[in-house]
Amino acid sequence: MGHYAVLDDFISLFLGVNVVGDIKIGEGAYLGISACAINQKNIGEWSIVGDGVAVARDIPPKIVAVGVPARIIKNIGKDGEKKNGS
Ligand SMILES: CC(C)(COP(=O)(O)OP(=O)(O)OC[C@H]1O[C@@H](n2cnc3c(N)ncnc32)[C@H](O)[C@@H]1OP(=O)(O)O)[C@@H](O)C(=O)NCCC(=O)NCCS
Repeated sequence: MGHYAVLDDFISLFLGVNVVGDIKIGEGAYLGISACAINQKNIGEWSIVGDGVAVARDIPPKIVAVGVPARIIKNIGKDGEKKNGS
């Protein structure tokens, strides 16, 4: 955990997560094992960031993101599952 990280309520950070430099993690977000985010990124509330994911840009609320760099694979908002973040 580095400088200026802001953690909202009910978040879950799993083993080896690195967040450094003006990162805001929204309420209820999950960051999986060894996920990382550096320099001015927002992780949206209730989103799931998978194991090993590198967050290269802001993560919207209520989505699932995987990969390096992170890509959105699912919307878990109130409209249910939609592939490709649509
Ligand atoms: C991340 C996760 C919650 C997403 O679940 P989901 O929305 O049901 O999506 P799926 O498990 O069907 O995976 C969808 C695709 O993402 C890939 N994927 C899943 N997790 C991944 C990860 N951490 N890194 C890279 N790719 C990943 C899957 O291989 C799959 O690829 P495919 O469509 O080419 O087969 C789930 O895959 C999972 O638990 N993964 C492993 C552990 C993990 O990352 N946990 C996060 C805890 S916060």
